[in-house]
Amino acid sequence: MKAFEIEGGNPLVGEVQVPGSKNAALAILSSVLLVDGSVTLHNVPELSDTRIKAELLRRFGAVVEWREGTMFIDCRNIHESDADEETVRSIRTSFYLLGPLLARTKRVVLPAPGGCQIGARPVDFHLKGLALMGASVSLDGGNYIAECDKLQGAEIYLDFPSAGATQHLMATATLANGITTIQNAATEPEVTALADFLNRSGARVEGAGSNCITIQGRDALENSEFRVPSDRCQAATYLLGGVITGGKVTTTQIDPEHQTALVSKLREAGAEIEEGPNWITAGAINRLESIRVKTMPYPGFPTDYQQPMAAALALAEGVSVIEETIYESRTGHVSELNRMGAKMHPEGRSVMIEGVQELKGATVKASDLRAGAALVLAGLAASGTTVVKNIQYIDRGYQDFEQTLSRLGGKIQRVNLPESDLVREESNS
Ligand code: EPU
Repeated sequence: MKAFEIEGGNPLVGEVQVPGSKNAALAILSSVLLVDGSVTLHNVPELSDTRIKAELLRRFGAVVEWREGTMFIDCRNIHESDADEETVRSIRTSFYLLGPLLARTKRVVLPAPGGCQIGARPVDFHLKGLALMGASVSLDGGNYIAECDKLQGAEIYLDFPSAGATQHLMATATLANGITTIQNAATEPEVTALADFLNRSGARVEGAGSNCITIQGRDALENSEFRVPSDRCQAATYLLGGVITGGKVTTTQIDPEHQTALVSKLREAGAEIEEGPNWITAGAINRLESIRVKTMPYPGFPTDYQQPMAAALALAEGVSVIEETIYESRTGHVSELNRMGAKMHPEGRSVMIEGVQELKGATVKASDLRAGAALVLAGLAASGTTVVKNIQYIDRGYQDFEQTLSRLGGKIQRVNLPESDLVREESNS
């Protein structure tokens, strides 16, 4: 079992060129199946989730080559999948393949999806939207079976602006007959990135980034080339790394407009922030002050940042509150940060954080991707040695994490835990 071993207490200082966005890449990699031809995707982040997605595409007949961040994908010969259930279940966005495949092949059998365990994560909005477009979808023995001769444009209203449902339905509608509208659509930058990719491939998508998206269906999408924009979640993590360690980190190749919520909450807490056209610098000279944070759909404070933010607020002066409104149980970081000396009290979906002067190194376990990032940040700021286990979660979403943090001055390395630790670990599970 691999783990991160961190010697805390070194300020992170320097610049990070932020890699491509995981969540944009995963959505685009589902939609490439709509293209009866070839797609060249630049800046695809090298992560376990994108590797699994590439493997899934191959199982459906796509030819995928990946060289130095660029993926060459040929989706001319799509066929029924021979993907095993475990691979499909290992990432949530495997489900976004359903609509595009259905549009291409008229019948799809796909095991139900998985992903990080941070709440129930149902797919009912996706299913309702596909049904409105004329698809018949049933669940049988853990597999979704979808059938439709030709998808029809539809008026779709989402009960909640779900990023995934917006992306899935918007992409699928590009090959439906006629016009589809999605009301109460998600406005996340990853939705806009997907719309940009689809339009580059000849689709007619308007309004992405607003809460009403209109898609004029076409018979086929065309060969295209596209660059995945940078990852705002990775950028936010490095910025918080600058703040929590009392250092100064600049993230480049980013769109500062996507970080408005983070920047304004960090300023409110007293962090030092500078911004330019495509960069942000964040650090802290003094101890942060306590603040209240409430996660909301974009442009609200992103749920994906609240766990790393909690690590920073664990060291703030006074009592902070983080209210999670998107997921039911995104609090896996709390007990582990408390092992490091934090004073965090979960109350339903909220966490009350009594700031402490110091965190102390400890052996802790990541429960999900962003909880893992929070523990690494805490370890970098803590005194002594922190060992973060379950780093397979972190590998889902951070490219070259330990190398990047080391370049910034962090003391972090990937280690193999000795056999005796493994035995103890198993008996605890
Ligand atoms: N929801 C439903 N029914 C649905 C779909 C969603 O009730 O059919 C609910 C979810 O249970 C959740 C809320 O709607 O409570 C929002 O979920 P959303 O669909 O927006 O999330 P997602 O598309 O599954 C993506 C990101 C997440 C990120 C959320 C919110 C990917 C692969 N994942 O998930 O990223 O937290 O949007 O921005 O794009 C991460 O990167 O750590 C991560 C979890």
